[in-house]
Amino acid sequence: MRKQIIVGNWKMFKTNSQAIEFIKSVDSKVKADENIIAGIAVPSIMLSDVQKVAKNIVISAQNCYFEQEGAFTGEISVPMLQDLGIKYAVIGHSERRDIFGETDEMINNKAKALLAASITPILCCGESLKTYEDGTTIDWVKSQITKGFEGISADDAKKVVIAYEPIWAIGTGKVATPEIAQNVCKEIRDIIKNIYNQNVADEILIQYGGSVKPENIKDILDQTDIDGALVGGASLIEDSYLGLVNYKG
Ligand code: 13P
Repeated sequence: MRKQIIVGNWKMFKTNSQAIEFIKSVDSKVKADENIIAGIAVPSIMLSDVQKVAKNIVISAQNCYFEQEGAFTGEISVPMLQDLGIKYAVIGHSERRDIFGETDEMINNKAKALLAASITPILCCGESLKTYEDGTTIDWVKSQITKGFEGISADDAKKVVIAYEPIWAIGTGKVATPEIAQNVCKEIRDIIKNIYNQNVADEILIQYGGSVKPENIKDILDQTDIDGALVGGASLIEDSYLGLVNYKG
């Protein structure tokens, strides 16, 4: 039985004070149990303060750089996350790839740096509308996954969370149907099986992301190969966030 992992991705929203207020207000209402991980990926400037007030909610970074330290103005390192006790970091979000030019090689280096520090990478993949319409989603995702996992051992690969986020469904209100999402997530599990083995494929957690809301999360998470969700807009409002992480009631 795989766990479920539901993570809000706040992107570049909220101030530090708003974030603290939010976490203080919802944290005790999150029905955390050992089978569901409830998280929020906050802007890096808030990580330290928010980490101190979150008890049930797991705090995640939205990005990091792969070098340990150095002249990399504006970046945050894995040791900086480690020092704050952060246990998760989103890497390779489509906004990082498309707006900030991140490559599969950089994302692979980030995954390795995080795993070496026992921080779980939430490695994002997903296709553009054009790729989707061309019918080449699986080839695209296979290339992202293969490059993203290059040089990572089977033992480490099991610890990675994969987030499948079709770009055409992000912030558009267009959710991939549960069937489309399930199909791609199953293919991703097969890709992992082919790179590693059945055991890694059975254990690895795969999230779906793209216009997930309290109203549709159950149908999505009921799918066999979908183990969680990465949620943007609907994670920014307290009631809505609680509706997502407590979707089982
Ligand atoms: P939305 O839930 O706003 O579509 O965003 C999805 C996303 O990009 C999460 O990382």
